[in-house]
Amino acid sequence: MALKKKKIAIAGIGTVGKGLLKILEVNGNGSSDIEITAIASRKKINIPKKSLFKKTCIFSDAEEFLKYDNYDILVELIGGDNGVAKKIVFNALKKKKHVVTANKALISRYWKDLNKISNNVGVSLKFEAAVAGGIPIIKIIDEFLVSNNISRIYGILNGTSNYILTKMLTTNKKFSEILKDAQNLGYAESDPTFDIDGIDTAHKLSILCSLAFQTNCDLKNIKAEGIRNIDLSDLKYADSLGYKVKMVGISQLKGKEIKNYVYPCLVAKNNFIANVDDVYNGVVVESNFCKKSFFQGEGAGSLPTATSVISDIISIIKLNKTGSKHKKKSNFKMDTVENRFGSYYLRFTTEDKPGVISGIADEFKKNNISMKSMLQKESKNKNSKGATIVITTHDCNEKNMFLALAKINKMKFIKKKTIYYRIENFIS
Ligand SMILES: NC(=O)c1ccc[n+]([C@@H]2O[C@H](COP(=O)([O-])OP(=O)(O)OC[C@H]3O[C@@H](n4cnc5c(N)ncnc54)[C@H](OP(=O)(O)O)[C@@H]3O)[C@@H](O)[C@H]2O)c1
Repeated sequence: MALKKKKIAIAGIGTVGKGLLKILEVNGNGSSDIEITAIASRKKINIPKKSLFKKTCIFSDAEEFLKYDNYDILVELIGGDNGVAKKIVFNALKKKKHVVTANKALISRYWKDLNKISNNVGVSLKFEAAVAGGIPIIKIIDEFLVSNNISRIYGILNGTSNYILTKMLTTNKKFSEILKDAQNLGYAESDPTFDIDGIDTAHKLSILCSLAFQTNCDLKNIKAEGIRNIDLSDLKYADSLGYKVKMVGISQLKGKEIKNYVYPCLVAKNNFIANVDDVYNGVVVESNFCKKSFFQGEGAGSLPTATSVISDIISIIKLNKTGSKHKKKSNFKMDTVENRFGSYYLRFTTEDKPGVISGIADEFKKNNISMKSMLQKESKNKNSKGATIVITTHDCNEKNMFLALAKINKMKFIKKKTIYYRIENFIS
């Protein structure tokens, strides 16, 4: 029996929107059961010469979708957690239209409200493209692992910061130089704040957390740290110690408590995600029956992201699933990074004189911190009489680490504020 054609309205023809049109032009949609009834684009666009675009009307402003009604599925590809994207998504759901979006900022901020409306009115809200672009991580959690209990999800969720960290080490260039290269190549936006300050990773992590642990993960619970101040020397020291520095998001359930962390950290080179380089994303999901599942792929970009968008459209049509079904099931306490228990990488810039190591060691002892490894380098500048000391620690409390660092940073032999990164061993 032929399925009734679903009418699609597309809002926003930018990077992802163009990818969507391209795939529909080249490969079709994988089935013949859709037609594009409307597209909203602020710029002039070329409509593919395909039958599914035969009756497409074009609007110059997506606000038109507040009045326009001839569609079953709204595909929102404008972005932003406010403004027109928010208006048309809420409006569509209220009008009992399905919604497919790539908008992580919107989904992350309004998770609770959007899912509530979608469930109440019985339409689908799909957002595969919002997390890790071309990796179907939402479907993995929402469908494939539905019979498992997930205990932890972690990974590299931002391609721009991964590209920067990878290229700094392989080309021996500073952060600012690689950021410029990334902007020229189109991997970073002219305002890179969301990517390099960890905000984009936090958006995606909050969605994964809400989905995996069937909760409402408020973005306010995630304190993101980024890579803006990363120094090439730390990537090199980490490398010589057997680690790579990676910008990660971690969401872990322990008992009734969820820990969400977003920061650059040292990851042992034999870990799955240490080998996810350049603009790639990689996600590990730990669950009780499948143990560790690892997914790697293009985390962004026009065509991989559009692939996710089309897969959501087809899911709505084929599965005829209604309602997002993402309901809060449990009340979890959201823990903060201040309560982290783990190991650390520290780089001290000190005077080169007796008493330095013992001064640091004394403060460590007072705070129950024990050293795991230490390397010392004389300053390259012969006149500076300085030294660099790199220490890794065994597991300790983050609070104790910061108490110790606050004291050490005030010691006379310290020449620059101590640099610290967390080390993630990802042991189950
Ligand atoms: N790019 C990626 O690789 C990627 C990956 C995953 C998820 N996403 C998400 O996908 C969404 C779209 O991202 P994108 O990279 O495609 O952004 P983009 O290139 O900036 O495209 C957004 C488009 O929406 C248009 N627009 C803005 N307001 C409009 C309005 N009132 N009416 C009609 N069109 C309007 C913009 O037009 P103007 O050009 O005139 O402003 C622009 O062409 C965002 O939520 C983003 O987070 C993107």
